Amino acid sequence: MSLPTSSSTALPGSPFVAYQNGQLMIEQVALRDLAGQHGTPLFVYSQAAILAALAAYQRGLAGRKSLICYAMKANSSLAILKLLADAGCGFDIVSGGELERALAVGADPARIIFSGVGKTRQEMRQALQTGVGCFNVESLPELDVLDAVARECGKVAPISIRVNPNVDAKTHPYISTGLKGNKFGIAHEDALAAYQRAAALPGLKVVGIDCHIGSQITEEAPYLEAMERILDLVTSIEKTGIPIHHIDFGGGLGINYNGDTPPAADALWARLLARLDARGFGDRTVMIEPGRSLVGNAGICITEVQYLKPGEQKNFCIVDAAMNDLPRPALYEAFHQIVPLQPRDAAATTYDVVGPVCESGDWLGRDRPLGVQPGDLLAVLSAGAYSMSMSSNYNTRPRAAEVMVNGAEARVIRARERVQDLWQLESA
Ligand code: LLP
Repeated sequence: MSLPTSSSTALPGSPFVAYQNGQLMIEQVALRDLAGQHGTPLFVYSQAAILAALAAYQRGLAGRKSLICYAMKANSSLAILKLLADAGCGFDIVSGGELERALAVGADPARIIFSGVGKTRQEMRQALQTGVGCFNVESLPELDVLDAVARECGKVAPISIRVNPNVDAKTHPYISTGLKGNKFGIAHEDALAAYQRAAALPGLKVVGIDCHIGSQITEEAPYLEAMERILDLVTSIEKTGIPIHHIDFGGGLGINYNGDTPPAADALWARLLARLDARGFGDRTVMIEPGRSLVGNAGICITEVQYLKPGEQKNFCIVDAAMNDLPRPALYEAFHQIVPLQPRDAAATTYDVVGPVCESGDWLGRDRPLGVQPGDLLAVLSAGAYSMSMSSNYNTRPRAAEVMVNGAEARVIRARERVQDLWQLESA
């Protein structure tokens, strides 16, 4: 392992990003050097941090029939997918595009599960022909369409039904998915009838049950509550003669952005599995779909200060990363720590850290005390999840480059987009 030395000062989120001799390092690489070589904005990931996050789940599920399906929407860069596939993960996908990405890194289709409320017939055909391990079906009409498509293809689709357990994940409303008002899954009270219908359709084979209650969950209670409700349902479904081989508890475990204290994955799973055993379901295959908790704290985004703009009400620190690179603050008012790569011995001023995009919503951090000058480099922390994968070309801004660090080694895993790439598919 390539943890920075004990004399270093770790930052919230990941022990793999820390100051050493006044320099922000990721593993054994100075972030300033990477910015010099590859320019900014630049995403940098710690391989050790990703593998350490995965190891916590693997410890938690050790000795069980289990499958960790990385929810690749969190960050679908090929190098990250390859790293996780090689470390034993399957994938949770939500589109034909994500399926192609998984296959591009040699993922085993049997370890892929296909989630999402709006799978098209074409995506279903593609997934059936590839032989994905399970379709997580989210509505009755989807059951019927999948049955028809499977029969047309001469296949039987392995399915689980995504049950909406009506549990409050106590997170941001945009990323809460397990409540009645959400578009996801089939309501708990309708699930038994849906299973009976699925079991009667010749193009489908019931293999499991699925739920996912939200994202950035920092408490244990919603997981336990969802588990109880799902196990109640498994009992009633099996009473009707439909066996449930695997139970998929979804993803959603939060990370530390700003002093958040989510349970550790291994501790959480020790408690959940104890409950599973106590209820007599310890023999089932346990599946999970973590995204953010595997990659979120492993990544940072380096950005350069362009201008300092003092104002009557606010001071602005204008940087070269923007909402197109880091959309979470604009979308969810999300908090990311922002720290200098080389802290100065200077008095701090309170700034709103903003990008160059022409929208007032283009901010990365509000009211941040920083002692900085134009040309200084800042790191936006905990940017490994839902940043690059949600980035856009708004304002004709090419997407940033990405670098993977492993110990003292760094390699570019995505080249910076060139401006001329952006209109390649257009005609004037
Ligand atoms: N499984 C399903 C069916 C999901 O919908 C999601 C995330 C996951 C697994 C992975 O959840 P995670 O472990 O990453 O929490 N863009 C938002 C998060 C959206 C999450 C959507 N679903 C954000 O940046 O906070």
